[in-house]
Amino acid sequence: MRVIRSVKQMQDICRKARRAGSSIGLVPTMGALHEGHISLIRASLKDNDITVVSIFVNPIQFGPSEDFKQYPRPVSQDEALCREAGVDFIFRPSAGEMYPAGFKTYVDVLELGSVLCGASRPGHFRGVTTVVAKLFNACLPDRAYFGRKDAQQAIIIQRMAKDLNFPVSVKVMPIVREKSGLALSSRNTYLSQSLKRDAQVLSRALCLARKLIRQGVRDPERVTGKMASLINTAKSAKIDYISIVSTEHLKPVRVIRGSCLVAVAAWFGGTRLIDNTVISA
Ligand code: PAF
Repeated sequence: MRVIRSVKQMQDICRKARRAGSSIGLVPTMGALHEGHISLIRASLKDNDITVVSIFVNPIQFGPSEDFKQYPRPVSQDEALCREAGVDFIFRPSAGEMYPAGFKTYVDVLELGSVLCGASRPGHFRGVTTVVAKLFNACLPDRAYFGRKDAQQAIIIQRMAKDLNFPVSVKVMPIVREKSGLALSSRNTYLSQSLKRDAQVLSRALCLARKLIRQGVRDPERVTGKMASLINTAKSAKIDYISIVSTEHLKPVRVIRGSCLVAVAAWFGGTRLIDNTVISA
């Protein structure tokens, strides 16, 4: 496994590999790798000749009062995990390499980026799509792998790849959960034992939503109301949003019908967590 720090070198390697007929899988990450990331790496290793994992804590997707500085950066642990998994290349550029002086160009997916998490994190998705576009151009992947835990992010990246004709197939892989139901996230490392216990309420609320919808409830407010009551039983929980939206346009549905995304974000102490489930009614 090699660690590459320059865009030009990464492009040269990937161009050469493609010319030799090798397929390239990219797993974009911000590091602090967990089993969720490993599941993406495994999928890439299975589908492609070469797997590149990018590790870059992207400053432009964090708001001024968010956790950019605090975000975990266990560099040697991440490298060991990648080596163990069988990754071919880590692409770990510096901020200066990705955003050199004079940088002025952003990629913004309109509308989809301003709802749900975008409403409470203005500019977040613009930062995500900009860096992912740059990672696509640096690593020239045939396939790129994202986790469904960040469902809105995955939908926005699929839109971007289509709209901008990136020759990349965007693969969205299932959420990996702890036994307790808690969705794996690098931010779980911020949680104390008791906050972690409280945070399990998110997946329980999504199970409740599935159950209610299975029982025939079609009024989204009835479902989100019951979810809110359950989440509020956890002492530390502060709900940011609970929404039931269409999976393509992320617009709130008036009646639960067809394929819907039930998405939730809540604070547990100083940590904001998200979770979701896709339901076919
Ligand atoms: O999901 C993430 O870890 C990040 O948002 C991504 C896609 C690597 C872009 O920085």
